[in-house]
Amino acid sequence: MSIFLPAAISRRQLLMAGGAIANVRLFDAERAVAAQNTGEIIGLKPVPGSAPIMGTGQPETPVLAYNGIVSGPVLRLRQGAPFRARVTNGINEGTTVHWHGIRLPNAMDGVPHLTQASIAPGDSFNYAFTPPDAGTFWYHPHDHTARQMGRGMAGALIVDEPEPPGFDREIIWVLQDWELLPDNQIVNGFDNEMEGMMAGRIGTTVTINGQVPTHVPLRAGERIRLRLINACLARFMALRFAGHRVVVMALDGQPVVQPFEPDGGLTVIAPAQRVDLLLQASGDPDGIYPVTDEFYGGEGDYKLVDLAYATARRLVSSGRPIVLQPNPVPKPDLTNPVRHQLTIVGGGMSGMGMSDKMGSMGMMSDGNSATPQIWGIKGPDGLNHGMAPILMLPLGRTAVITLTNQTNWWHPMHLHGYSFHVLSRNGVAEQYPHVRDTVILRPKDTVEIAFVADNPGGWMFHCHVIAHQHFGLMSVIRVA
Ligand code: C2O
Ligand code: CU
Ligand code: CU
Repeated sequence: MSIFLPAAISRRQLLMAGGAIANVRLFDAERAVAAQNTGEIIGLKPVPGSAPIMGTGQPETPVLAYNGIVSGPVLRLRQGAPFRARVTNGINEGTTVHWHGIRLPNAMDGVPHLTQASIAPGDSFNYAFTPPDAGTFWYHPHDHTARQMGRGMAGALIVDEPEPPGFDREIIWVLQDWELLPDNQIVNGFDNEMEGMMAGRIGTTVTINGQVPTHVPLRAGERIRLRLINACLARFMALRFAGHRVVVMALDGQPVVQPFEPDGGLTVIAPAQRVDLLLQASGDPDGIYPVTDEFYGGEGDYKLVDLAYATARRLVSSGRPIVLQPNPVPKPDLTNPVRHQLTIVGGGMSGMGMSDKMGSMGMMSDGNSATPQIWGIKGPDGLNHGMAPILMLPLGRTAVITLTNQTNWWHPMHLHGYSFHVLSRNGVAEQYPHVRDTVILRPKDTVEIAFVADNPGGWMFHCHVIAHQHFGLMSVIRVA
């Protein structure tokens, strides 16, 4: 891990010249801030609609969207203040809302067949929780997840610090991936086995806040908090910001101990992960700088968007120090933890081909349908099965879990209800363990995570490549 603090972070004497920073908003979704948890109940309703995700003038795409907004209304909460939402199901199948990354009471976690019944069409469900952590989170359905999320249902959930941390401006990018036909209709057949045993559904089109963006206007000199949210079903990203240095300030909502520049200038973000970047607008006024996604390499590289300097006038940053205070996530007590091993198995075996899928693990039922189990998690008592817990953890104790990926595929593994410390990877200890809710396991990786099991209940632990989750890469960790 490289440790790097740009001088700009500590430079504090500059005065802001030229008046207040205009609240430049590019996308409709960013304007649609629905919540300040000041007591009122927020209404959230997924509905069918159509949206010009390829841009105005292009054929519209039939979508499912919270409050009719693709990439959802931005929910802005205050740290430590109660939040209430009434979710009304406006689509034609069951749904729930999961508040991804929030440490909340189990009954509010939004998992059908585990923490609540699915919300039937026309019905409502009230969610209430108090976010303990400030940071970048998100919300999405947890029933029929592939087709609901794949048609647009996801949104940003931002929990603000009590004191603004000193950036000049904030930009939110909800990144979504769509598999579109030439007429911009969405390809059907979510949850198909072919995608499920390989990399999941990687689409044709990536949107930022619900649209294929042309450019993002910047002002030379400003220091931006860029909140990245990967709301794709399966697409990993590795973003390069041409002509700019970026500094990782927070991962999955949790500030890093030492802000750092990402390895090789590539900001890697797996499905479900968030990265808060300090983007220093150091380009030339009038300059145009592409942001490219280089995760898949070669033919898979593409330009996501251009950063375009919008005004010739250089903005003198406020120069306030940028500091993200740590959240009150309990520190694992590594002197006497409970230890467990979980092993990820299954999938297409060759890593390239599609012939030798593992068909032998049987069927699993998610309550909606019976599905062949292509993936699995092996625990102390054998292979995972449905919602039966794979681990029982004593309440209050520190748990250290060693995760091993025996497969040839990448998996962003996510634990509900907790933010865990990533202690080591392949035997190499982290000096400053990142605190995350979703950790990448590359093929054959072994990763050790630790957390204080202080939140009782049954918590899902699953791969966030939704097709892997659907075909068996999911289980429950019960804390009691
Ligand atoms: Cu965003 Cu069960 O997850
Ligand atoms: Cu989650
Ligand atoms: Cu996976």
